[in-house]
Amino acid sequence: MILLEAQELSKSFLFKGKLCQVLCGISLKLKQDEFISIVGASGCGKSTLLELLAGISLPDKGKIFYDGELITGKTGILGYMPQEDLLFEWLKSIDNILLPLRVKGNLDKAQRSKAIELLPVFGLEGYKDHLPWQLSGGLKQRVALARTYMTGSKVLLLDEPLANLDAITRNALQDWLKEIVSKLGVSIILVTHDIEEAIKLSDRILVMKEGRFVEELVVKEGIDATALRAKLL
Ligand SMILES: Nc1ncnc2c1ncn2[C@@H]1O[C@H](COP(=O)(O)OP(=O)(O)OP(=O)(O)O)[C@@H](O)[C@H]1O
Ligand SMILES: [Mg+2]
Repeated sequence: MILLEAQELSKSFLFKGKLCQVLCGISLKLKQDEFISIVGASGCGKSTLLELLAGISLPDKGKIFYDGELITGKTGILGYMPQEDLLFEWLKSIDNILLPLRVKGNLDKAQRSKAIELLPVFGLEGYKDHLPWQLSGGLKQRVALARTYMTGSKVLLLDEPLANLDAITRNALQDWLKEIVSKLGVSIILVTHDIEEAIKLSDRILVMKEGRFVEELVVKEGIDATALRAKLL
């Protein structure tokens, strides 16, 4: 079943009087329980695409459907973790995590207890009352992921969620992400620069170049990271 569908999305930006075409009629289908990774060179339009899917920016052309319903320009339907993740410095982990519910006006005692019960799933047991500056980079990423999950969306859009981590922490968080995705039953679109990460986590990899998908790879045993890396050049 197709959960999310983007049809022919185009987006351009006006910069210093010059129109730059960033997305050129890009289309995408995400099935239920599917994990897709988008890889591509810096500046090819990955974050722009996720912003359109999240509804925080409007396409010049094209449509986005979720569960068959038109959602172009609608926020709050898909869970979105931006590239520059900003936790609120004055909020404890639990309050950062509960923010989507507070914004929606749905925060009550039962929801708070539910979020506390979820902390171990995100590896955050014992960190409920820490402020962001008291957390390591990896823990902050987990808080941000937990907050994205708390949107209640069945589709999570993750823009380089494990960037800027050391290799060991990153590897551990990849294993953990794979595990929670199957535990929580969510579908994912992940943007990453890390080919091995894309291979390890996804069912499908979309290679993006200058605002278009130029290649689609179904991840199977023995997929060649070197060959995939060459496609990015
Ligand atoms: N609001 C904006 N105004 C003008 N240009 C923009 C704007 N947002 C993005 N761009 C341009 O669009 C292009 C694509 O940006 P985008 O952030 O989508 O790239 P990206 O693929 O996510 O790159 P990275 O891997 O570095 O995060 C870039 O050239 C960027 O400068
Ligand atoms: Mg980006």
